[in-house]
Amino acid sequence: MSKAFSIRVQQSGAEYPCAEDDTVLRAGLRAGLGLSYECNVGGCGTCKFELIEGEVRNLWEEAPGLNPRDRQRGRLLGCQCVPLSDCVIKPMIMDDRYIPLDRPRRFMGELVQIRDLTHDIREFVFKDTQPAAFRPGQYALLYLPGVAGPRAYSMSNIRNDDGRWEFIIRKVPGGAGTAALFNLKVGDRIEIDGPYGLAYLRTDTKRTVVCIGGGSGLAPMLSIARGLVAEPSMQDVKLKFFYGARGPRDLCGEAELKALPGFGTRIEFIPALSDAEAAAAGEWTGNVGFIHELVKAHIPADQLQECEFYTCGPPVMINAVMQMLSGELKVPAERIHYDSFV
Ligand SMILES: Cc1cc2nc3c(=O)[nH]c(=O)nc-3n(C[C@H](O)[C@H](O)[C@H](O)COP(=O)(O)OP(=O)(O)OC[C@H]3O[C@@H](n4cnc5c(N)ncnc54)[C@H](O)[C@@H]3O)c2cc1C
Ligand code: FES
Repeated sequence: MSKAFSIRVQQSGAEYPCAEDDTVLRAGLRAGLGLSYECNVGGCGTCKFELIEGEVRNLWEEAPGLNPRDRQRGRLLGCQCVPLSDCVIKPMIMDDRYIPLDRPRRFMGELVQIRDLTHDIREFVFKDTQPAAFRPGQYALLYLPGVAGPRAYSMSNIRNDDGRWEFIIRKVPGGAGTAALFNLKVGDRIEIDGPYGLAYLRTDTKRTVVCIGGGSGLAPMLSIARGLVAEPSMQDVKLKFFYGARGPRDLCGEAELKALPGFGTRIEFIPALSDAEAAAAGEWTGNVGFIHELVKAHIPADQLQECEFYTCGPPVMINAVMQMLSGELKVPAERIHYDSFV
């Protein structure tokens, strides 16, 4: 059994145990504390803290989540530090909205199914011995053989008693994590840690849900769609599902959405291709352009103000969507839920 140290939060006095192989952030979330975070993989800087007492080991010194000023001030990332002794920490932000609804846990998942969705996107299904407890739209961390640090991947399914954790993952050229992942065989077991993430389906609203996904951002949007259909209190809620891909060979998701009750009536699928040349070469007759532009073209501005938004994908897409929703259309922040794939 691994040794545990005690971490005390300076502002609140809260104390929690942190195993020597766990991070200061994740152990705090496991204990039910509202420590701030987004990506969990060193990219965003939302988990910054100051070490007041004690000693930690930094798993990734060069993590881009810290800027030179942070480093100068001795700030650290909660998602990249494991304790070497009991510690007192001062997180930059603490907020109840970060308190996990389902506490994250670590388990060994067995890969039970692999399915190609496109030339470079695959569905991976892992199985745990315990029920899978997470909200639609959340993500987990996958520890891959021979790869430094875990990788974050969003679940595409919803909570279930069978212990199924399903992911839709795009192979990134030159990427260490996806190279290892795409080499896994059915029957292999890896460590999985989750759930994490705040871009989960809000079930207490009757607003039209708008999902905006691009490329590898399909998984969490599909999970939101599946969650909405399964949620008894949301049976009257409409869903507009926008999905952007480069060319015809990159497009996926329609078959999975078509399998949902209400497809074509309350569920609308609106795909677009961003590569006009590839679209023409593939004799594509649908929408061409960036997916956020299509959202605006498809829904009148006054209606957009009244929708609930979920969006996931590469940072460049998230920035464009946020600029449009927050900057241009002034949609209130509490109605936009997003995960940027850092
Ligand atoms: C919240 C979230 C959800 C995501 N969901 C999906 C999804 O559903 N589908 C999908 O295809 N992609 C998803 N991604 C992107 C995914 O996590 C990877 O970034 C992507 O697959 C590329 O990984 P790679 O290892 O192949 O590339 P690499 O370039 O090797 O690795 C990039 C990632 O690894 C981290 N990293 C790099 N070096 C280190 C190190 N030394 N120590 C620790 N961490 C390191 C970086 O922060 C970055 O996240 C998600 C990302 C985030 C943040
Ligand atoms: S949550 Fe730690 S850097 Fe993003």
